[in-house]
Amino acid sequence: MTNNNNQFNLASVLVSRVLDIKPIAQLARKQAREMMIKRAGKIGIDWRGNVEQLRALDWNEIIESIRDRSLTYPDYYTLPFHAYPEGNLDWEPAWEVETAALTVHSTIWSGGENPQVDGDAQLRQSYHENLVKYIKDEPQSILDIGCSVGMSTMALHGIYPRAQLTGLDLSPYYLSVAQHRAEEKKLEIRWIHALAESTGLKEKSFDLVSAFLLFHELPQKPTLEILQESYRLLKPGGYFAMMDMNPQSTIYREMPAYILTLLKSTEPHLDEYFTLDFGATVTKAGFAEPTIISNSPRHRTVIAQKPY
Ligand SMILES: C[S@@+](CC[C@H](N)C(=O)[O-])C[C@H]1O[C@@H](n2cnc3c(N)ncnc32)[C@H](O)[C@@H]1O
Repeated sequence: MTNNNNQFNLASVLVSRVLDIKPIAQLARKQAREMMIKRAGKIGIDWRGNVEQLRALDWNEIIESIRDRSLTYPDYYTLPFHAYPEGNLDWEPAWEVETAALTVHSTIWSGGENPQVDGDAQLRQSYHENLVKYIKDEPQSILDIGCSVGMSTMALHGIYPRAQLTGLDLSPYYLSVAQHRAEEKKLEIRWIHALAESTGLKEKSFDLVSAFLLFHELPQKPTLEILQESYRLLKPGGYFAMMDMNPQSTIYREMPAYILTLLKSTEPHLDEYFTLDFGATVTKAGFAEPTIISNSPRHRTVIAQKPY
């Protein structure tokens, strides 16, 4: 066992060193990308075709109507994410992220050899089943923080069609795609370009603040700040809910260290997320003891109420 561990740790250090060499990191990125595009093809998704459709549109007007130019991006946000050098602040990731989400989530239940096109829908559904189970009164006003291109916001509309929905994100590129998709679907959703830790929105104005796959992208300090801001935004008795990677799942606990290192090379704050006691941070922000439920082989849902 110790020998195995030593080998994994050595492999992990080697992977990390090798990824520090720029041309090699670029090559690894290119190969990982080609693998994803191939997997998308396997589940019947035309990755390049989807991206070209979005690329062909005129985005100037839409981004200018959404972007808050007075915003300053925190340093933790301007790092490369998901192998995109500009992280979340560029068109390429904005045009690719829907297709990428369907592809990445296609193996959650079925494994790498047998990807399924409905893995993403299943993941969202498993979260929503917990929302419906633990939140007794149907929320009338919902804030989706880290909404990206609006997949989570529009999915929430699916289960709470009467609620007023607001999607908030720090990337004006993602929000532009979100607005475009909402217009296509004729959905009335308010999109806000802001920091989740200081939204500028009115206190006690939401019944539910939801965050789907946001927190693994954050260091621990903004995580607490976002929970405190969520508390401020919620009405008494309102709920905070999140769905994200589950560090306690067997998949991550048994993942070879060098694979985890590869994963971390695309997710710069994963270590901070994995080592945070999320439940304790939720109560530190003022919420009641949260309910934590595993909702996929590698994801968890956390739900907590703001006391009356
Ligand atoms: C993985 S994506 C979320 C995916 C999305 N909710 C969905 O269901 O497809 C994480 C999002 O969080 C956003 N984000 C990260 N830090 C943020 C912050 N401090 N404030 C607002 N948004 C943030 C990123 O721009 C990105 O769009």
